[in-house]
Amino acid sequence: MSTFRLAHLSDPHLAPPESAMRGGGLSKRVLSRFAWRRKRHRHDPAVLDAIAEDLRAAGPDHVAVTGDLTNFATAEEFAAAAVWLESLGHPSAVTVSPGNHDALVARGAPDRFAPWRPWLGDEADDDFPRVRVRGPVAIVNACSAVPTAPHLATGQLGGAQLDRLADVLTETGAKGLFRVLLLHHPIAPGVVSKRKSLDDAPALREILARHGAELVLHGHAHEALLNRVAGPAGPIPTMGVPSASTPAGHHDPAARWNLIEIAPGAAGFQVRIEARGVVPGPAVQPVGAYVLAA
Ligand SMILES: [Fe+2]
Ligand SMILES: [Fe+2]
Repeated sequence: MSTFRLAHLSDPHLAPPESAMRGGGLSKRVLSRFAWRRKRHRHDPAVLDAIAEDLRAAGPDHVAVTGDLTNFATAEEFAAAAVWLESLGHPSAVTVSPGNHDALVARGAPDRFAPWRPWLGDEADDDFPRVRVRGPVAIVNACSAVPTAPHLATGQLGGAQLDRLADVLTETGAKGLFRVLLLHHPIAPGVVSKRKSLDDAPALREILARHGAELVLHGHAHEALLNRVAGPAGPIPTMGVPSASTPAGHHDPAARWNLIEIAPGAAGFQVRIEARGVVPGPAVQPVGAYVLAA
């Protein structure tokens, strides 16, 4: 079986259409509009275009986008994000795990992320986690995005999703697939502040310790992160990438995407990662390469 090439990018925070910036709306959206005006220089559409073009040129087998495509979760932003997703590849080859910004207010965000259904999983009506088997890889798409109180950016999977996740990891593991868990929030302890953390991360780590996964990909922290959590046969790597739209020279880490090459072999899978990102200058370049220990 040949090498499977998975691209990971996150937190594009697409520039909101002007209509999303007008009008009243609910309190958290209003607060977030102020936050956007303060932070808008952190997310540059030209940087995102360069990252997306570099990613497309690499021709990955699949693309994982771990959330925060929008800023205020308005219908206009969901529609604009769907157009952007179409530019990345066919929906069957692009998977989206929503972020906290995509679920900003309880009654504002489209029901169950409906405009993004083609990118959430293969079946229209599945609950999370949704599973997509592609070659030797099972992409297990979990959703940690929940509406939160103002000034919080926490996430939650919930008991029902955690129960299904345990079953899904067991089933796909029994088939010998390389299990890649996608979710927006980091899961290793202490990676982000409590205000930004996954409420039920301890329960998720217990499930992973018992049922296993080969790799966890997340966003949310806007940083290049590599951590490990316990698995039944050794540590499970968890990786995060910076926002795909942050320019070089900003306080936050500059935009990157990761090309993850998963090679099945007699002794298990070998995982090689090439990080590609913006540096001062026009081109996206390699900024690091890693091999994950088997
Ligand atoms: Fe984000
Ligand atoms: Fe986030």
